[in-house]
Amino acid sequence: MLTSLWKHIVYPQKTISDNKLSEVFGGKWVVITGATSGIGEALTHRLITAKAKLFLLARNEEKLKLLCHKALENGTEARYKAIDLRQRKVLDAWCETLREELPEVSFLFCNAGKSINRNISDSIDRMHDFDRTMDLNYRSMVALSLALVPSLRRAEGRIVYTSTVSSRYPFVPGWSAYHASKCAANAWCRTARREHKKLGVKIQVAYMPLVHTPMSEVNETYKNMPAYTADEGSCILLKLAMSKKFRYKPWWSL
Ligand SMILES: NC(=O)c1ccc[n+]([C@@H]2O[C@H](COP(=O)([O-])OP(=O)(O)OC[C@H]3O[C@@H](n4cnc5c(N)ncnc54)[C@H](OP(=O)(O)O)[C@@H]3O)[C@@H](O)[C@H]2O)c1
Repeated sequence: MLTSLWKHIVYPQKTISDNKLSEVFGGKWVVITGATSGIGEALTHRLITAKAKLFLLARNEEKLKLLCHKALENGTEARYKAIDLRQRKVLDAWCETLREELPEVSFLFCNAGKSINRNISDSIDRMHDFDRTMDLNYRSMVALSLALVPSLRRAEGRIVYTSTVSSRYPFVPGWSAYHASKCAANAWCRTARREHKKLGVKIQVAYMPLVHTPMSEVNETYKNMPAYTADEGSCILLKLAMSKKFRYKPWWSL
């Protein structure tokens, strides 16, 4: 009883109608990173139903193929690129061809992410933790955004970044790699917002609260806490992308 009241107040239900989604996203090119799991997968399913034209990115090729197959069955176009977004050279080389492959893009959802919970004292020989969170959570978002700016401009498009509400709070121990990478991305997005006129592309940030996904479920504490479902997480991104706002944050956040 108390748990459901808590869920209701702290995580008010998020819904969005398929009709509304079809009106806004139908027939438009949408790029989604992290499409194979959690929030990104839920987002992909909603946009397949809305008949958006999808370009999906993640590492799991089998899952990407299945999602594209589902999109085709539903009568819309879908392509994928199986890629490890942390591999700088591979990503940069592919980015060079991306504009030609996708000359017009309406929405770029930079959602792929990796969280690491480890104290700095336990990371003495683990510089790679800091590199891989930075490469995925920050650098890949910038690389894809730069590559797609001309295509986004053509469609008066927008970039939507999935950040975390915890980056708005005093930092708790154990999350230095994750928070540093998310804060770097937040800073980039906030600067891009200030440059909106020259850039010609709108940028939006979702400071996401806890969502039950494979990422959060590995943490026993988070697993048992009230949170949004992946579908609700995708509704947060979609509603933001349909709005004029710069950011989403939960009502109770700083
Ligand atoms: N869940 C939460 O409570 C929560 C809260 C705040 C913010 N967020 C943010 O929300 C976003 C989505 O997270 P989620 O909870 O949905 O996590 P998830 O279920 O673990 O999904 C992560 C996605 O990112 C992709 N990915 C991971 N590493 C990759 C790599 N090296 N190259 C390419 N793709 C990669 C994964 O696909 P492959 O494994 O196929 O590559 C997967 O599709 C993340 O940016 C996360 O930081 C989540």
